[in-house]
Amino acid sequence: MEPRAFFVAGRPEHGEGESTVHHPYDGRPVGRTSHATPDQVEAAVAAAADVAAEAAALPAHARAAALDHVSRRLAERAEEIARLITAENGKPVKWARAEVGRAVSTFRWAAEEARRFSGELQRLDTDPAATGRTALVRRVPKGPVLGIAPFNFPLNLVAHKVAPAIAVGAPIIVKPAPATPLSALLLGELLAETALPAGMFSVLPLPNDRAAELVTDPRLPVVSFTGSGPVGAAIRRAVPEKHVTLELGGNAAALICEDWSSDEDLTLAANRIALFANYQAGQSCIAVQRVYVHEWLYDGFLPRLVAAVGALRTGDPSDDHTDVGPLIDEAAAQRVEQWVDEAVAAGATIAVGGRREGTSYPPTVLTGVPADAKVCAEEVFGPVLVVAPVTDDRAGFAAINDSAYGLQAGVFTHRLDVAFAASRALQVGGVIIGDVPSYRADQMPYGGVKGSGVGREGLRSAMEDYTDPRVLVFTALEL
Ligand code: SIN
Repeated sequence: MEPRAFFVAGRPEHGEGESTVHHPYDGRPVGRTSHATPDQVEAAVAAAADVAAEAAALPAHARAAALDHVSRRLAERAEEIARLITAENGKPVKWARAEVGRAVSTFRWAAEEARRFSGELQRLDTDPAATGRTALVRRVPKGPVLGIAPFNFPLNLVAHKVAPAIAVGAPIIVKPAPATPLSALLLGELLAETALPAGMFSVLPLPNDRAAELVTDPRLPVVSFTGSGPVGAAIRRAVPEKHVTLELGGNAAALICEDWSSDEDLTLAANRIALFANYQAGQSCIAVQRVYVHEWLYDGFLPRLVAAVGALRTGDPSDDHTDVGPLIDEAAAQRVEQWVDEAVAAGATIAVGGRREGTSYPPTVLTGVPADAKVCAEEVFGPVLVVAPVTDDRAGFAAINDSAYGLQAGVFTHRLDVAFAASRALQVGGVIIGDVPSYRADQMPYGGVKGSGVGREGLRSAMEDYTDPRVLVFTALEL
């Protein structure tokens, strides 16, 4: 197995040591790479700083052409890339295919936004003293971006850092997650096929304990991080002078409102929740973790949910029919097991579930869980659902808000007034009506409040985040 090259200022290179990537399902080696040396890190950062002015001046058609190229090539190589994602991350291949499809769309949207990102004209003659003045407000890149990506979407969450940077003309250095560098390196290959100037992108595999050398480098004024809360908080503390975007965790909730009451309604909600609590073995920040059900509907809903969860097919993620594969590693599966055991010791009941086998944990539904149990109060990042009755919608909103996090929430209702009430009451970045909180379209603003982070991704939002407004005032004073 040849080691894969990484990219320093757009050039393929090899570094020091050897890092083997293992399949989370059976531990077999699936790829090799090496770590960037300190000299290679310095070369990448220096090149990003040197090219920043040229990158900012690139015409929109050049930025859009590069983004369109990557989108097209991802689509052409979709099956190969999906298999690579499954090999390094362990997500079932059907979900890996979905991720590639989303990355195709992420780059396509970035190309479209690059073409229309224009700025606005603002009139200033609203006071007599400013008669004759007009402002043109355009956005300019803050400077080179450092993107630190997680393991759970090793392609599309890298795409969400790279594509908006290119769209605004900002150089970017990506540090992929150590467990899943291969998809990011393949993306580097596609970026290297474009006519982007050297220095515009680097993809540097590094162990996490070397991220600090990039985070604290003053030549990278923007840090876009997706990952755990403690690491995000440490980044913010380390570089308060920088622009830091944090996409952190969540313990996403769904609410079944009183009006969502027909047999079809309950079956639909149960099926959607079962699927999206367990897709990627629950390793998504918006996987359903908590379900609150109107008390009149609880007894009709729970058996449907238990049946839907029990029907999910577990096993080898490379099998087209597998719904739920392994977690990223055995330590992650052991942590989930320990949290479930703690909840049971505190009085919870397992409605469906089973025993951990290596890196795999079975889809599990818990009832009677104390609100302060870790499986409820913290981000479980595993295939575990907590279900509880609530007396009414208001109590449901309060239960959703009783969380240190606030990323997205799903509200199953047919009523427009309840939808607006949910949007007003819920302390989250997004409310999904009639579906699970796990819905995300890549162009929409995505991010959270409270412990779920600061800033928004989604192409247009990230482009605004990576840029500052710059005002140009035109003056035509009366003689
Ligand atoms: C995340 O885990 O925050 C990303 C979810 C998604 O992109 O669907």
